Amino acid sequence: MSARSSKILLVGGGGREHALAWKLARSPLVDEVLVAPGNAGTAGEPHVRNVALAATDLDGLLQLARDENVALTVIGPEAPLVAGIVDRFRNAGLRCFGPRAIAAQLEGSKTFAKDFMTRHGIPTARHASFTELNPALAHVRRHGAPIVIKADGLAAGKGVVVALTLADAEQALHDMLGAHAFGDASRRVVIEEMLSGEEASFIVLSDGEHALPLASSQDHKRRDENDLGPNTGGMGAISPAQVVDARVEQRIMERVIQPVLHGMAAEGAPFIGFLYAGLMIDAQGNPNVIEFNVRMGDPETQPLLMRLQSDLVEMIEAALDGRLDRTEARWDPRPAVGVVLCAEGYPGAVRKGDLIKGLPDAEGTDQKLFHAGTRQRPDGSVETAGGRVLCACALGEDFRQARERAYALAASVHFDGGFLRRDIGHHALAAQGVGSRE
Ligand code: AMP
Ligand code: GLY
Repeated sequence: MSARSSKILLVGGGGREHALAWKLARSPLVDEVLVAPGNAGTAGEPHVRNVALAATDLDGLLQLARDENVALTVIGPEAPLVAGIVDRFRNAGLRCFGPRAIAAQLEGSKTFAKDFMTRHGIPTARHASFTELNPALAHVRRHGAPIVIKADGLAAGKGVVVALTLADAEQALHDMLGAHAFGDASRRVVIEEMLSGEEASFIVLSDGEHALPLASSQDHKRRDENDLGPNTGGMGAISPAQVVDARVEQRIMERVIQPVLHGMAAEGAPFIGFLYAGLMIDAQGNPNVIEFNVRMGDPETQPLLMRLQSDLVEMIEAALDGRLDRTEARWDPRPAVGVVLCAEGYPGAVRKGDLIKGLPDAEGTDQKLFHAGTRQRPDGSVETAGGRVLCACALGEDFRQARERAYALAASVHFDGGFLRRDIGHHALAAQGVGSRE
């Protein structure tokens, strides 16, 4: 056991970070987890302390790590990674887990990611990039619908339009290249063919050379039931993803994960951190990459970490020491389901400041209400402060039970304008031969 992890700094303040803080704080290697900025959920966790610094305040975070004698820093969201937080920390001699900026481009630039996949033969949708409206319009008119239009840079999972008609595709191009709906992120767009199949999230820890796969998971990106409505950051997640059986997992490792690690190392940008492959698994069980993220998924992290029995701090230390080839992760065999409770208006502009009622005082080991966009009021009560507010998670003997427990937990809390999807886990239930609606 190393003494060096006694104080951990976790950067971020969403649902993923509540789950990470909760899990990191349970490690016997850890005395205290500082979370910057955290949320009302992390504020209430034992051995966790919020620090009022933004995730993108790199100077402030570096100073904090020094002042507090932090032994290890873990980065939750993509923005500080793309901005080079790991370079800053490691160049200052501090232990920090995540990819350097050059490797974070796998998420930070869709054009970089697509070109990288082409260079290394990693299966993905055919694509073309555009910065000018007219050639982009000509391209979609040539190819027709359905077709997918994406803002090139970071847009919090929302800069993607799956256009089923040519008119929708043209509108998306006008919005992105004409009106710059996503600011700098949409100065360039990637247009790609539509993939079909079932989506799954596959996340590994990487030490730059070896990958330690986490359990599989599955997000629900669309706002509405039956996978309709606009794309969101994610409305709920399950683990494992039934579609990722042993054969599919082997293909993902061989065709996607290993080529990424080899390719990044060969290009002088070894990938150290959480590597997330967003995949479309076709009817034959072949994976195609939709996107890479250079961090854990949100909300996938919440049900995933409910299932992780190993010490996450030990796993991260092993990755930083380059010994993931000798590291294993143990998982609770039971499935987990996480249901996101959103504020009115999400994924657009949301209302904030609503009182959250019914927050549980105590939770059993098999269920957990993770906070995301929440804030403590001076009187100790908790109010909404973002689009995704809470994620109700539960383990169960099977998906049906996990889902019932997660929805029961979700039903016990209330805030004005709150809404959720009622069909999280519908693929898993269909695979079990159970109707997808409650
Ligand atoms: P992304 O931000 O790239 O993950 O895209 C968000 C969501 O849009 C994905 O999770 C998919 O549901 C959908 N999507 C993106 N690209 C494609 C594609 N080429 N084919 C089909 N669906 C896609
Ligand atoms: N849940 C999708 C993401 O984290 O990007």
